[in-house]
Amino acid sequence: MARKMSRTTSHPPPHDLTKKLLSWFAQAGRTALPWRDAPCGERDPYKVWLSEVMLQQTTCAAVIPYFEKFIAKWPDVKALAAAPSDDVMRAWAGLGYYARARNMLKCARLVAQERQGKFPVAPEDLQQLPGIGPYTAAAIAAIAHHGPCAPVDGNVIRVLTRLYAIPDIMPAGKAVVGEYASHMLPQGCSGDFAEALMDLGATVCKPKNPNCPACPWQSACRAHGAGVPTDYPKKAPKKAKPIRKGWAFWVERADGQVLLERRPDKGLLGGMTGFPTTEWQVDEITAEQAAALMPGEGDWIQVEKEVRHTFTHFHLELKILKCQLLGEGEKGLWCAPHNLHEQALPSVMKKVSALMI
Ligand code: ADE
Repeated sequence: MARKMSRTTSHPPPHDLTKKLLSWFAQAGRTALPWRDAPCGERDPYKVWLSEVMLQQTTCAAVIPYFEKFIAKWPDVKALAAAPSDDVMRAWAGLGYYARARNMLKCARLVAQERQGKFPVAPEDLQQLPGIGPYTAAAIAAIAHHGPCAPVDGNVIRVLTRLYAIPDIMPAGKAVVGEYASHMLPQGCSGDFAEALMDLGATVCKPKNPNCPACPWQSACRAHGAGVPTDYPKKAPKKAKPIRKGWAFWVERADGQVLLERRPDKGLLGGMTGFPTTEWQVDEITAEQAAALMPGEGDWIQVEKEVRHTFTHFHLELKILKCQLLGEGEKGLWCAPHNLHEQALPSVMKKVSALMI
């Protein structure tokens, strides 16, 4: 710790930097974000929790319509806890990372049933809840209650590694960033500090084209001083994502309806509705092998175009086999193509239907 912090010698004291940041935030912060409809510390912990869960791995622009829809439908944690899972999954569809939606609902039910609808205040207690890791716990504690916490996400890593020219490889070294941030925490308004750092990272200290002249820390920033702001954060070389391949089945019965299935709760897209598919694997599956796995009997044709989709850990190339069923078709979830938009289809499945309709 002493070794790390000694880099701050001949640098403005942390609290001077914090003051500058907070005055910048008062003028330039993103006040229009719908989860910021009250000052930090006076916010509804439910809204803070919901926004932080939605914002994991996703941008504000993507989250805003979902957040507004959820708050309109389920204005408090008890309402969300009482909602049928399918309705919640449908409202979440398109936001990705569906395990988060399932954990969110588990968390809401636990808070509603076992904690009288009240979220814990301490980050250690928040972290015991489903879907809340160290970052989200620190963000909720700071923003909902001004608890003395400094959440460290990608934006904060970028801003502080540049400010202090931190050479550690990120995100592995994010604890070092947390130490710097904790020395800057203002008394009694750590929520503003957290949001100010997020906003500085999102609007000024951007990954590729930082707008250094607009930055309240420009004169103190070591990376800027050295003329190399975008050299930080230091990162390990990226591993190439593997490509997986598979087939989706577009099974049509005589009345034109197509077959859908609910995917198993565990695993990728768990609990979501989609077209039946083969496994998604690195080795190619031939059309004949895929056809042997199809649900129902009929004449198959391979659709010329294919779907490409990128998940966190792999690229998917999904070919499509289309089948006109000979018989009635098995029991299951059948849907007219023009009604598919009412289903909670994840993005990859929406791409399949867009190709087929
Ligand atoms: N990213 C994560 N949490 C956020 C918040 N509260 N405001 C804006 N961006 C965020």
